[in-house]
Amino acid sequence: MEYSQKVMDHFMNPRNVGEIAEADGVGQVGNAKCGDIMKVYLKIENDIIVDAKFKTFGCGAAIATSSMATEMIKGKTLEEALQITDRAVMEALDGLPPVKVHCSCLAEEALHAALWDYAQKTGRTIDGLQEPKKDIHEH
Ligand code: FES
Repeated sequence: MEYSQKVMDHFMNPRNVGEIAEADGVGQVGNAKCGDIMKVYLKIENDIIVDAKFKTFGCGAAIATSSMATEMIKGKTLEEALQITDRAVMEALDGLPPVKVHCSCLAEEALHAALWDYAQKTGRTIDGLQEPKKDIHEH
């Protein structure tokens, strides 16, 4: 199995690891198949994601996609962040081996869960956002 240099870089030196103490949105999702878990913390000001951090108890591909996804959403509006799919994150990492493609879903789903949490707390609606699942079963 071959990992791209970008995947290795984000796995060895993950960006944005940690927690945000007074996060505006928090989301956690687990992958029911492998048991891996990702938690995302967002700081949101004027509809812009000004900071994002994560904790991923998971495989290298899950950590690398979590790292890249949090990098990609910083500075984005809520709607823009919603457009950043697992596929886009994977492309930014120059791909993942086929058996690890499902791992990238964790970051996307946890991000959606954090956006959902923010929307619930503030009474805001985010176009295109649906209530996320707590566990991913497919992929
Ligand atoms: Fe579980 Fe990669 S093996 S997310």
